[in-house]
Amino acid sequence: MTQTAHGVEFKQRLSHRRVPDQERALILANPGFGDYFTDHTAVIDYKVDATGTGGWAHARIEPYGPIYLDPSAAVLHYGQEIFEGLKAYRHSDGSIWTFRPEANAARLNRSARRLALPELPPAYFLGAIRELVRADRDWVPAGDGQALYLRPFMIATEAFLGVRPAREFSFRVIASPAGNYFGGEVKPISIWISREYARAGRGGTGAAKCGGNYAASLVAQQEAEANGCNQVLFLDPFNDNAIEELGGMNLFFVMMDGSLATPGLTGTILEGVTRMSVMQVAKDMGLKVVERQITLDEWRDGVESGQITEVFACGTAAVITPIGLLRDTFETIGHENALAGETTMAIREQLLSIQMGAVSDTHAWLTRLI
Ligand code: COI
Repeated sequence: MTQTAHGVEFKQRLSHRRVPDQERALILANPGFGDYFTDHTAVIDYKVDATGTGGWAHARIEPYGPIYLDPSAAVLHYGQEIFEGLKAYRHSDGSIWTFRPEANAARLNRSARRLALPELPPAYFLGAIRELVRADRDWVPAGDGQALYLRPFMIATEAFLGVRPAREFSFRVIASPAGNYFGGEVKPISIWISREYARAGRGGTGAAKCGGNYAASLVAQQEAEANGCNQVLFLDPFNDNAIEELGGMNLFFVMMDGSLATPGLTGTILEGVTRMSVMQVAKDMGLKVVERQITLDEWRDGVESGQITEVFACGTAAVITPIGLLRDTFETIGHENALAGETTMAIREQLLSIQMGAVSDTHAWLTRLI
């Protein structure tokens, strides 16, 4: 069977071994984050032919399962890989929507250019998401704060060991039902300051969403967890300890005058879709939003003086998560038992209400999938 989405035809090979209804219901009752996967995956292949011309082909939906890869596939050696994260939301009338997918499609292509991967036409990106969600519609949870997390990614599959851009690739989308990224109810998290490790450097891949950036963050994240913290903060030590971002989230500061500040995009920071949506939602709520350099000294002094009243993290997975405390072995900024800030929670509520279709979608951010 074939299905056409956005003018792209997807062959359907549906799973004969779907997760039974009862088991899926148990998973959806408490999905956590990233632990369970749906019954299907979307796949599109890319190959450069003998004339040097490349093209995407064989768009398909197939059963979720292991990927067959040659042990010398370029992705396994040189990390030629990028990914995205977005969500599908079940509205109260049962319809299913996604949020700003064209922004994710555009960022995937910015990442692709940086990692010498082929760009994917947005129609293929949107088609893959639509067809996967259609095949796995029963996996979109309906609970408060829940959604189906979609993980598009692109890997270099060509088998060779020379260091050069590959000529064969695979674009895939997998899906995983998701609740709160940090588990349980939304509550302020604690952040560990990474002094030893940087996430990205000038001219590097910091602005791209590639696995390598996250691999580089893991030892620092390990340090954070060993010290009882939820996430790690990366600084730019060559630039007055300017705040960059967390291991997988952007940062916002609520100032005493009610305005919002967030680190500007310097080329080393990921341009989060949630980050830009928060900026717009805050402006719609009448708040001033400034993108600028914020240093660790400003964070410390601002919390002490009351100039900074709230700090929060944001991302597709994290949505908007309040930050209670920032620390390392030398200092602690904020409080362990801090309460979630009012502005933080008001922006979170407004963003979630847009995503869930509970308030009007004035910026036309939602795309209906089913
Ligand atoms: C996302 O928010 O989609 C990410 O990719 C970040 C990661 C921490 C899950």
